[in-house]
Amino acid sequence: TGPFTVAIDGPAAAGKGTISRAVAAEFGFAHLDTGLLYRAVGAATLAGEEAVAAARALDPAGFDEALLRTGPVAQAASRVAAMPEVRAALVDFQRAFARRHGGAVLDGRDIGTVICPEAEVKLFVTASDEVRARRRFLELSGKGHDVTEAGVLEDLRARDARDAGRDAAPLRPADDAVTLDTTRMDIGSAVAEAVARVAARR
Ligand code: C5P
Repeated sequence: TGPFTVAIDGPAAAGKGTISRAVAAEFGFAHLDTGLLYRAVGAATLAGEEAVAAARALDPAGFDEALLRTGPVAQAASRVAAMPEVRAALVDFQRAFARRHGGAVLDGRDIGTVICPEAEVKLFVTASDEVRARRRFLELSGKGHDVTEAGVLEDLRARDARDAGRDAAPLRPADDAVTLDTTRMDIGSAVAEAVARVAARR
């Protein structure tokens, strides 16, 4: 049997990361958070580099996650993510990741639509703006970041609008994706639902 791919897409702070890590741990799959690739390119532009050159030179082994998880880097990521040449430079790495592991979970915005349209399981994880802002606010303030809930909500909305409104691989569920709305779900139930969907195809 060939590689088994789980595609997990959705807007910012919907729970994709937690669900992806849990599914990967449950089935012994490798996990790639593709948002980190765009964040790394965004961070490089904040440091003065040109976006497309930075995307072509990207070295995922050298990522500093703490730096990449900040608000300004998230906004810069969504700006470079609208550039077709940046997206094109990152496609091969993502597809190769899915191919070289017996099982892989990739999470992002366009995994089920563009990167791995043949994925065995496609989930679109979402939640209301307010719930996502609340979760991201608690996460960031818990790490000592100086943020307000209103500021986080505004940032998420700006990023989602840019991600869904762009021409290149816009944020949207694949036709064959199962939507998991976690607005009224605790994270344990969301994980259980995702694990059950994967188990059913495994
Ligand atoms: O998932 P995360 O919030 O880390 O993603 C940061 C940004 O990277 C997103 O707002 C989006 O613009 C971009 N992105 C993307 N396609 C992906 C993953 C992330 O365009 N597959």
